[in-house]
Amino acid sequence: MMASYISADKIEEIRSAADIVEIVSNYVTLKQRGKNYFGLCPFHPEKTPSFSVNPEKQIFHCFGCGVGGNVIAFIMKIENLQFPEAVKFLADKLGITIPEIASGGERSKERLTLFKVNKFAAEYFQHNLLNTNAGKPALEYLQQRGFSEEIIHKFQLGFAPDCWDGLLRAAQKQNISAEWLYKVGLVIPKGQGGYYDRFRGRVIFPIHNLAGMVVGFGGRILQVEVEAPKYINSPETPVYQKGRILYGLFQNKEAVREHDQVILVEGYADLLSLVQFGVDNVVATSGTALTAEQARVILRYTRNVVILYDGDIAGALAAMRGVDVLLAEGLQVKVVMLPQEHDPDTFVRQQGKEELLKLIANAQDFIDFKITAFTAEKALDSPQRKAELVRILTETIAQIKDEVMRNFYIKDVAEKLDVEEAVIHREMARIFRRRSTQTVKESLPPVSNARLKAEQGLIEILIRFQNMIPPVYHHLELEEICDHKNRELLSLIFQHYTAHGRVNPQHLMDYIDDGEMLNLLANILAKDEEPNFDVQRWAEDCVRTIKIGNIQQQINQIRQQMKQTETKAEEMANLNAEYIRLTQLQMNLKKQRLFEEQ
Ligand code: CTP
Ligand code: MN
Repeated sequence: MMASYISADKIEEIRSAADIVEIVSNYVTLKQRGKNYFGLCPFHPEKTPSFSVNPEKQIFHCFGCGVGGNVIAFIMKIENLQFPEAVKFLADKLGITIPEIASGGERSKERLTLFKVNKFAAEYFQHNLLNTNAGKPALEYLQQRGFSEEIIHKFQLGFAPDCWDGLLRAAQKQNISAEWLYKVGLVIPKGQGGYYDRFRGRVIFPIHNLAGMVVGFGGRILQVEVEAPKYINSPETPVYQKGRILYGLFQNKEAVREHDQVILVEGYADLLSLVQFGVDNVVATSGTALTAEQARVILRYTRNVVILYDGDIAGALAAMRGVDVLLAEGLQVKVVMLPQEHDPDTFVRQQGKEELLKLIANAQDFIDFKITAFTAEKALDSPQRKAELVRILTETIAQIKDEVMRNFYIKDVAEKLDVEEAVIHREMARIFRRRSTQTVKESLPPVSNARLKAEQGLIEILIRFQNMIPPVYHHLELEEICDHKNRELLSLIFQHYTAHGRVNPQHLMDYIDDGEMLNLLANILAKDEEPNFDVQRWAEDCVRTIKIGNIQQQINQIRQQMKQTETKAEEMANLNAEYIRLTQLQMNLKKQRLFEEQ
């Protein structure tokens, strides 16, 4: 449980000002169904929406993985912040000012500072591009590449002047230390102490997360030369995990949703060019190989991906890999092969939007793409080569989790390559066998026993049927609760009840910083059907199960001791007596109606 240093009133103000549907919509595509909204859960991979948002109760809840909570809990989870920082995050978004917080969450406080430092840097770079003489050549470069003022603003492009300490000095004026710049990767330590700017004489492409905060930067030199790399990028930092971020998604997510399709490119310039030409449902991996996490992020906006990589061999190879990653996450994948000499940027500039849209509309199914790519260099001129291609395609199809889809593609490949379906099925079986030996035991969490279930049941009862709180409180000691999280939550419920005469679950959530407990609570709140059973009976059963479980534990201990041979006779007699007492107690408990006897 946590003590937050923001007043309860403030928290209440922020929570009631924040519309959970609106906030969640920044991250998840929601569709209204009845009084709830549904979408694909951002916290676990899934194909059919089981993530729900209830505007009335202002909670979210996933029927698939069980996560849930209120709007603050959502921000905590999705932005990886602790409670006070999540509140502050929402306050900033809503324009509510709160007094500086002194919280215990060092790690997430640091994250907020890193965002601030990045924001400062992005503004510094932008100012240099737009308002300084030093920035003129960079601005001309961008204009000559065809990027409009609108694009330059929308993507917050900037320029890092060609000197060693431009950013360092500007930061110093704002009391931002070099150490902080170092933490976001904007400066590099010198051997002899001190730091120098990482980005010098480069056009700057800030990289935003889904909430629009700058997490990192890419920088391109104006004139490509031999000694310096064309692009350099921020290193990974606590706020910039490259495998999770997609360049341009923040700016283009609405377009991706509307088209229900995303075009995946590799480069910053490719992305900007496409947007410039009015093709705005596009995101970029910016130089790193596509990851499963990025694929899952895409899935939150659309299921349909068109890969549009460079027309050269490197592009084709990257596309080959990308296909498998996307398929494995349940996306539908098509691939555009550009003419050899083109990348998306040069193609759209030379051939125009319509030509590009034609290519996209005619994108190849991933199977055809792989066959084309494989046979482009060398024909299928031997049984060995054909077998190799069958293996490659089967590996790819094996990524698909849906069996019906898999079988569909097996048929497809069998036909196209003129091989027996059975051959492919056998190959597939071999792949699955190999896989299952590779991932022998990713051990599952221990199954909850009756006692844990009873404890959780009790929590549910106390929240939904608060008239049960007094009798349960009367009959149960907190020490009897074996799971410490359950115990803390029950304790919190009792405390709130004692203080206010009732328990407001929303209020309760503010005191819980454990994700599992929040999920449990939200699960409970998501239920609103009237019970068609005897609630008091249920409560009694839970209490009884807990008590019996407790006694059983003591009995087990006694049995253990009795088995030990060195136990003395006198002691043995005591143990025996205790054993009998406990079993008797247990038997009585099983018969009694607990709550009525008083
Ligand atoms: N990239 C990188 N480091 C490099 C080269 C490339 O990080 N040294 C990344 C960049 O994100 C770049 C992407 O890979 O946008 C694609 O690289 P490339 O095709 O070489 O560059 P273009 O996008 O074509 O860049 P431009 O059109 O500006 O030359
Ligand atoms: Mn290019």
